[in-house]
Amino acid sequence: MCGIVGYIGENQAAPILLEGLSKLEYRGYDSAGIAIFNNNEIKVAKAKGRLAVLSEKTDNGKTVQGTMGIGHTRWATHGEPSDVNSHPHISMSGRFAVVHNGIIENYISLKKKLIDKGFEFISETDTEVIAHLFEYYYTGDILDTMVKVINRVEGSYALGVLCSDYPDSFIAVRKSSPLIVGLGDKENFIASDVTAILKHTRDIYYLEDNEVVVLKKDSVKIYNTDKEEVQKEKFTVDWDVSAAEKGGYEHFMMKEIEEQPTAIRDTISPRIKDGKIVLDDISLTTEDIKNINKIYIVACGSAYHVGVVGKYVIEKLCRIPVEVQVASEFRYCDPIINKNDLVIVISQSGETADTLAALKEAKNHGARILSIVNVVGSAIANASDDVIYTWAGPEIAVATTKAYSTQLTVIYLIAAYMAEKLGMFTSGEYARFIEELVSLPDKVSDILKSKEEVQYLASKFFNCHSIFFIGRNLDYAVSLEGSLKLKEISYIHSEAYAAGELKHGTISLIEDGTLVVALATGQELFDKTVSNVKEVKARGAVVMGVTTDTHDNMDDVADYVVKIPSVHEALLPSLSVIPLQLFGYYVASLKGCDIDKPRNLAKSVTVE
Ligand code: AGP
Repeated sequence: MCGIVGYIGENQAAPILLEGLSKLEYRGYDSAGIAIFNNNEIKVAKAKGRLAVLSEKTDNGKTVQGTMGIGHTRWATHGEPSDVNSHPHISMSGRFAVVHNGIIENYISLKKKLIDKGFEFISETDTEVIAHLFEYYYTGDILDTMVKVINRVEGSYALGVLCSDYPDSFIAVRKSSPLIVGLGDKENFIASDVTAILKHTRDIYYLEDNEVVVLKKDSVKIYNTDKEEVQKEKFTVDWDVSAAEKGGYEHFMMKEIEEQPTAIRDTISPRIKDGKIVLDDISLTTEDIKNINKIYIVACGSAYHVGVVGKYVIEKLCRIPVEVQVASEFRYCDPIINKNDLVIVISQSGETADTLAALKEAKNHGARILSIVNVVGSAIANASDDVIYTWAGPEIAVATTKAYSTQLTVIYLIAAYMAEKLGMFTSGEYARFIEELVSLPDKVSDILKSKEEVQYLASKFFNCHSIFFIGRNLDYAVSLEGSLKLKEISYIHSEAYAAGELKHGTISLIEDGTLVVALATGQELFDKTVSNVKEVKARGAVVMGVTTDTHDNMDDVADYVVKIPSVHEALLPSLSVIPLQLFGYYVASLKGCDIDKPRNLAKSVTVE
């Protein structure tokens, strides 16, 4: 996600901002910029690409003099990586400069209203709306204006704002996107996380949602949205830089597991308006959807596992046949694709060679391509007819978690969107589906709150040599992901199996003490899977059951049971995968594996 740094003090701001932004590079970005106040005006310098480009452009900050400024590294969500889309964004008069981390969910409607009032936009970003809103609401009182602006915007934001009428202070606010205040000696800071300012101070305030901060070089005042000053507790950070980059977590993977509720919410919320799923991202008309003969889903690894979920969900909701293939097979199978076929391509990085090649093969056969991608402007995104971005933010750990989970939510959105267009939902069913979809972030949070249960189970099984994951239908689809998570970071052999298929050979591998993780979350096939649990138990297996809090009788057959909250059947994968992510993580941690950078693996496999 984007990175923010702000400074006010007695030193030149630009070098401090550039150095602070360099400490945020690990967060992933595609462009950067700074805005510095000097001689009653705001000077801005920004550039697409690495921070080095901006440093070169400003001669390491020397060309932008001033002792107050804000800086930003951008992870593109709305609008491709480019100079004009990078932050800071400036109001038309030049009076305001804004940096933003997060997503303004209602920016399209605000942008239309502002354009109708004569405002001119130069970028494709959601953030530019903020700069013009400050102009629109400006009363001469920056705190009053800030409150008016945040009362109009919906979504997640950490904002840093310079106003040229305020030469000795700047203002900032947070809602859902983290922002801290650094407290120095005749200098003060804001930053997305402490890594950016550890060199200068370890004394910080953590801002809470809807807290506004006004910084001067010798004072920091924090206000609520009623403009009442609030007192904050000062924290002294004792993390080193490495721990700070991981937000205090030992590994990026756990940080990203914990970020899933926010990532899911950020991906879903902007696409639900007035009780309906709104996919402004795509140009599929209702007529196009009605004409779809068949859907192919093509991807690799965990993205492929999302496709397996997609098959079950889309076929269930839309009654359109879906074929899922790994990209490395699809690209060489001379696929039989007809002009009304839709190919959905899924990729976190948007750069996976096999997936890109499969996309091109599908295009050569005349298919329409809809991709689900996490990196704006990536090769797969640029090669697609339509793209729906997952707003998971940059994913650092090689083993995907939050990108996988947000891909699932986009699959649900697509399936329900098409089902509604096809008239497959009654109005009540549609409303319920959306209500259940919106409940996912909180339910994921609930599961994460009891992660120690899974940590305990990992402590019992981290010496296993082989672990089986079984399930039926959607539970089978999630078993695939659970098995891969375990394999790729703990190096323990594992297989995922359709529970009903075990008896056709593989059950011969089950012996005394073999661990079998049995997913039984669906209602319809629960008893069938319980029978499979009994089959493997009879052969000596130890069974860890994963089921919903409504299935009590799993306790009677499994040796250990992990319960997840109930939710609409089609959405269960988003919940049942969480314990499996945690299990893989804790097993690998107990084995002392390099969790964020597992052997032999790359975050993006850009070669065949
Ligand atoms: C998942 O944890 C792995 N890192 C890997 O399977 C990954 O999902 C696969 O390489 C596809 O990557 P992509 O989503 O970037 O295309």
